[in-house]
Amino acid sequence: MGQKLHETRQAKETAVLVAVLLPDRELADDPLDELAGLAVSAGLDVVGQVVQRLDQPSAGTYLGSGKVELLTQLVHDTDADVVIFDNDLSPGQARNLEKATEVKVLDRTELILDIFAHNAQTYEARLAVELAQLEYSLPRLKRMWTHLSRLKMGVGMRGPGEKQLEVDRRLVEKRIHDLRLDLKRVEQRKERQVAARSDHMAVSLVGYTNAGKSTLMNTLTGADVYAADKLFATLDTRTRRWQLPNWGPVLLSDTVGFIRDLPHHLVASFKATLEEARQADLLLHVADASNEAVFEQIAAVYRVLAELGIEEKSARLILNKADLVHEDRRLDVICNRYPHAIPVSARTGWGLDAFALAVSDSLSASFRDVDIEMNVDNGRLMAFLAAHGEIQSRHYEGQRVTVHCRMPQKHLGRIHDPDAKIINHDTRNCSATQAADKHIDTLPLAPPSADAVEDVA
Ligand code: GTP
Repeated sequence: MGQKLHETRQAKETAVLVAVLLPDRELADDPLDELAGLAVSAGLDVVGQVVQRLDQPSAGTYLGSGKVELLTQLVHDTDADVVIFDNDLSPGQARNLEKATEVKVLDRTELILDIFAHNAQTYEARLAVELAQLEYSLPRLKRMWTHLSRLKMGVGMRGPGEKQLEVDRRLVEKRIHDLRLDLKRVEQRKERQVAARSDHMAVSLVGYTNAGKSTLMNTLTGADVYAADKLFATLDTRTRRWQLPNWGPVLLSDTVGFIRDLPHHLVASFKATLEEARQADLLLHVADASNEAVFEQIAAVYRVLAELGIEEKSARLILNKADLVHEDRRLDVICNRYPHAIPVSARTGWGLDAFALAVSDSLSASFRDVDIEMNVDNGRLMAFLAAHGEIQSRHYEGQRVTVHCRMPQKHLGRIHDPDAKIINHDTRNCSATQAADKHIDTLPLAPPSADAVEDVA
């Protein structure tokens, strides 16, 4: 499949896009806007569109039969090379549509996987994409193999043909098995690497694809991370030192962009790449305030975070591309829904001072004010406190010493020394009270109400 569109890129193939809008789909003004962005990122020219509203997809062709005729006509009139569905198709539906239109038919997942395959730069990202592609294809191949092995009753399919099917299936399954093992190893190594870097506070940029994460990273750190008006320009996590004003150095990471209905296999495969986000002290959720589907995109990011098991973490919502928002009311509407969101423009630098203050404020909120009592000769624990906390006083009593210090919650959680007695003066409940005191938007947030969406559009 990756192969298919790589060929496409060289020849600049043309595509007709199709969306079937089912009742559960929240509506932006242009339902094919995002798919068009994906198609362009895959190097295709979009030459036509078909949209149909249905209560449920048609079993054989997903699209209703009248619309299949219309699609076939459009493909013919525009001389399109490929049809791309915004919905996920079964192999049978894709085959029937290919028969009707006489061109190849891809679905949204295949298109996303293809873009990922093209953009994966590192060993880790390549492993993740190959695994996702094979896992996506395996059930389809299995069905094809079953179909072919039924045909084996006929002349010509006995013997080597039959064996070949079995060999192919085993090869794919073996490759999936090996890739999973390799990825597991990469994940474990990554986990250790990230944990070892825990001397500085870690801040991770997450968000919908094209929201401006790489641009923000470049503006803040002077890094040279690839930023482009393309979906999924960045697939690998990059970490840079960011000199946070009035705070000091923190580690800032840029991560893979998310998208609505991100193929499940991809989410699972990219766990290693998202390790930074998982271990971060603070997530900065970057959203594109100028995009009319901003609420849908924010909700999609929260869903993927939940799928990755990082929904408990504190996050601040950053409303980027404020320079493109020409109506004041639009920002107000978004801020009404997310009162602690911070509007910025990563491109012009507008709002970045307030943004830096808000980040240091949120990081401070993760510090705890504690007394730790231990034996005076517990040098190991004392060294740990000195390295990871701010020691404010020491009080000696015989063979015991009580150290008063401020320390990030994550380091406090690493103290398992049976000699240590910890008295936490900060009885705040981290997620609930921090949110109220420190203006942190905690996850998960409910999707926006329909009214709010209409207000913005
Ligand atoms: P992925 O790699 O797909 O996840 O994208 P990303 O979130 O890293 O976005 P990126 O930084 O690549 O930016 C996407 C596009 O938006 C680029 O063309 C940027 O120049 C543009 N952009 C980013 N921030 C701003 C901004 O504040 N204002 C404007 N006008 N454009 C911006």
